[in-house]
Amino acid sequence: MSWLVTGGAGYIGSHVVVALLEAGMEPVVIDDLSSGFARFVPDGVPLVEASLLDTATITATLRDHRVEGVIHLAGFKYAGVSVQRPLHTYSQNVTGTISLLGAMVETGVDTLVFSSSAATYGTPDVDLVTEATPTHPESPYGESKLIGEWLIADVARAHRLRHTSLRYFNVVGSGSPGLYDTSPHNLFPLVFDALVAGRTPRINGDDYPTPDGTTVRDYVHVADLAHSHVVAARRLAAGESLEPVYNLGSGDGSSVRQIMDTIREVTQIDFVPEIAPRRAGDPAQIVASGKLARRDLEWEMRHDLRSMVSSAWEARQAAG
Ligand SMILES: NC(=O)c1ccc[n+]([C@@H]2O[C@H](COP(=O)([O-])OP(=O)(O)OC[C@H]3O[C@@H](n4cnc5c(N)ncnc54)[C@H](O)[C@@H]3O)[C@@H](O)[C@H]2O)c1
Repeated sequence: MSWLVTGGAGYIGSHVVVALLEAGMEPVVIDDLSSGFARFVPDGVPLVEASLLDTATITATLRDHRVEGVIHLAGFKYAGVSVQRPLHTYSQNVTGTISLLGAMVETGVDTLVFSSSAATYGTPDVDLVTEATPTHPESPYGESKLIGEWLIADVARAHRLRHTSLRYFNVVGSGSPGLYDTSPHNLFPLVFDALVAGRTPRINGDDYPTPDGTTVRDYVHVADLAHSHVVAARRLAAGESLEPVYNLGSGDGSSVRQIMDTIREVTQIDFVPEIAPRRAGDPAQIVASGKLARRDLEWEMRHDLRSMVSSAWEARQAAG
């Protein structure tokens, strides 16, 4: 029996694949390589290069590999770009999830862990986001993730489906030298790219109502996140019930300036960030409680900010 990881050639998915291997579970990857890389999939792990929209191939993969459950990470994750590309975003994240669920119903695969996002909350009006905080997504991306959660809950009412959705906050770091975040829109890769190219990294706004004036976010290490996926998968497969939704947040925030200071220490590249105007729609602070996940999913911050930055930097350098 194996576990299908959709998006397993991506940044987080490849870490989930490694965590499954370490737990003695057998991963199989489906990925269309639109933002992932075949080299991120460890040797010996089958990679089916196909789109989620190809229901027939998903169905065949579920059957051929005797899949017992699915960890569904494939998706288009660029919230800002999704505003310009709503149809693409909905097709990848909503139609793609419908296609996957259809294949699962068809083949009787009844266990699912879904990658959701902090973007489902939009700009929360609370200091600490919990799973009870109302959802107000502010982009097609956030909406598509919330619709994914609804779809899964609706399918579970009509068919047998054990499921949970994990709302990630800001995922950073690296658990293996070759696996790193390649997103052209996330803070760590943006700063690293600037430093490598000899440009000055930029802070967007230093006049927010936060302790040092820069925006505060909740950063979590990708390997800690991957571990909780494995725990969720195992518990669901064992017939244990989980909450429909968990926040994977640390309960603690770091400011952009703190990140820049840590990057300066770790890389030993001296720089003074340029202060640019605020970006429209950037909330001052988003920090989430991970209390429920700590209770049920062995969710723990095993890495501090320095280790998040240093592992990301090492993986970035190893990649050349
Ligand atoms: N990185 C974050 O901070 C973060 C935060 C919240 C949620 N998420 C979610 O986690 C998941 C993984 O994110 P990531 O950071 O690893 O991104 P990523 O872009 O590195 O990985 C996504 C993977 O899915 C694949 N993919 C995309 N559309 C596909 C399709 N239609 N069919 C098959 N494969 C497809 C891509 O090729 C890629 O390998 C995404 O669903 C994302 O929305 C990420």
